[in-house]
Amino acid sequence: MTAANSVQTAKPPEQAYKIEIDSLNQSFSVRGEGRKQKQELIVLEGFNLSVSEGEFITVVGPSGCGKSTLLDIIAGLSRPKAGSIYIDGKKISGPALDRGFVMQQYALLPWRTVSRNIELGLEVKGVPRKIRAEISRKYIDLVGLRGFEKSFPHELSGGMRQRVAIARSLAYDPEVLLMDEPFAAVDAQTRGVLQDELMRIWEETQKTIIFVTHSIEEAALLADRVVVMGTHPGRVKAIVKVDLPRPRNSAQMNTSSDFIWIRNRLWELLQSDAPPGRALPEAAETGQDVADEIAPDAVL
Ligand SMILES: Nc1ncnc2c1ncn2[C@@H]1O[C@H](COP(=O)(O)OP(=O)(O)OP(=O)(O)O)[C@@H](O)[C@H]1O
Ligand SMILES: [Mg+2]
Repeated sequence: MTAANSVQTAKPPEQAYKIEIDSLNQSFSVRGEGRKQKQELIVLEGFNLSVSEGEFITVVGPSGCGKSTLLDIIAGLSRPKAGSIYIDGKKISGPALDRGFVMQQYALLPWRTVSRNIELGLEVKGVPRKIRAEISRKYIDLVGLRGFEKSFPHELSGGMRQRVAIARSLAYDPEVLLMDEPFAAVDAQTRGVLQDELMRIWEETQKTIIFVTHSIEEAALLADRVVVMGTHPGRVKAIVKVDLPRPRNSAQMNTSSDFIWIRNRLWELLQSDAPPGRALPEAAETGQDVADEIAPDAVL
């Protein structure tokens, strides 16, 4: 057994966490099929997670399990039905500049240039114009967009727009970066470049990141820990620790046996949410009881 696949079931010792998600419940009132009466759709139930300062967390789970709902709540954009989120021990009550949000759909303002999009959060903070321009230049360099300061979003490719969105959320220096499938809309090659850039930026800036993705490769590549969510209702099904050395590189990872082991484990955990009859090959071969590993507090 390698360091990458050691199994612990104990919780880490008590410590001050950057983010604490405590017993989060979320539900929505929806109209059921063919029914006139509304019913309550439970999306998240008893969701707990503690994230250390500077940690890179990725979240995977079946479509509709509540990943975006979770990020919206952490961002303060929606309120949970029950439970709390603490940042540095303080309960959040709405959106704030301590958290940056990068969404799948860029959410850039089409009438603003790259520079002025990046300056947005700084304007909200009341930072003077000259300093705003300096900070904007720094982040344009960081994401590799020098020369495009005066371009408008419609003049950029999807990957470039996503870089602007990342630069914008970093520019006002949030401590926590929330990213909801930020690279889903770009081609595979651009995705690799953006993944490598994000890891470099994260190492340079020491942000705490929660990153949602549908790609198990991306989840394993980026993370210190991967949160695997189960569905109906959305909850933490397992947490997989990724003990691969850093700096990592998207191209090299595919040949690392530890990386492949982690990727396969994530795949198995996600498959076990699939309808009965789907095989769990590795568990069957090794005789491991997957059900034991997927206890909510298990760290795989
Ligand atoms: N405002 C809302 N009103 C009613 N239902 C909602 C609302 N927001 C989300 N839902 C429902 O909550 C569930 C979880 O949605 P969510 O967008 O969080 O899933 P997800 O895990 O991000 O899925 P995907 O991987 O497809 O992005 C879905 O069934 C969705 O229909
Ligand atoms: Mg989503």
